[in-house]
Amino acid sequence: MKVVISLSGSFFEDATRIKQIAEVLEEIAKSYGLYIVTGGGKIARERIKIARELGANETICDYIGIALTRVNAKLLISALRNVHPEPFPAYNEVAGAGAVEEARISVMGGVSPGYTTDAVAAILAEYVNADLFIDVTSVDGVYDSDPRRYPEAKKYDKLTAKELVALTAKEELKAGSRIVIDPVAAKIIERSGIKTIVIDGSNPRDILNAVQGKHHGTAINPK
Ligand code: UTP
Repeated sequence: MKVVISLSGSFFEDATRIKQIAEVLEEIAKSYGLYIVTGGGKIARERIKIARELGANETICDYIGIALTRVNAKLLISALRNVHPEPFPAYNEVAGAGAVEEARISVMGGVSPGYTTDAVAAILAEYVNADLFIDVTSVDGVYDSDPRRYPEAKKYDKLTAKELVALTAKEELKAGSRIVIDPVAAKIIERSGIKTIVIDGSNPRDILNAVQGKHHGTAINPK
């Protein structure tokens, strides 16, 4: 079984947390082919804000975000033992490296402007024919509005991919925007039919639980 995990950049702010996540990932990789995509987090948003103040356009801002997602990929690689030594800059290199056959963990960051690492992970999941895609974020699932800003926001335990597409279509896709799952990712989930789960990663053990089918997040049913 192959699992693709999108890890929010918010988990890369201290070595202890990165180590805890790396330990859980190594445990998962004993039984599953594992592919990780790392987000950019707060530092990416801060640098994008500075670039925008300097007059950079959205594509340049996206490239700044991509650079920081790749920094986080290197941080994760530093904490993993059983890993490909370099983060992959492109989908075809992940698969081309025979990652699954060698039962090692593959790690990559962002790829190209216009979306976030959620979409990168969804495309990667489609590319490697993954059985499961887990979006590990700092909120505990998909809500009808941002629960960090609207305390009355309603959480979905499950959604169809079609409903997810409708929900994310109204989101702004500017560089560094804080959305739980981006609209491009939603469309890829819909077309690929890959089973998807959105969970909170504050307790890294919950990532292992989710792989084993136990979670309190949002399940996205492809059909
Ligand atoms: P993230 O994937 O980290 O954004 O990429 P996010 O999901 O909003 O944030 P976290 O990590 O879950 O908190 C950071 C920024 O990098 C650019 C986008 O501007 C994105 O907002 N990016 C990233 C791209 O343009 N293309 C990519 O392939 C990846």
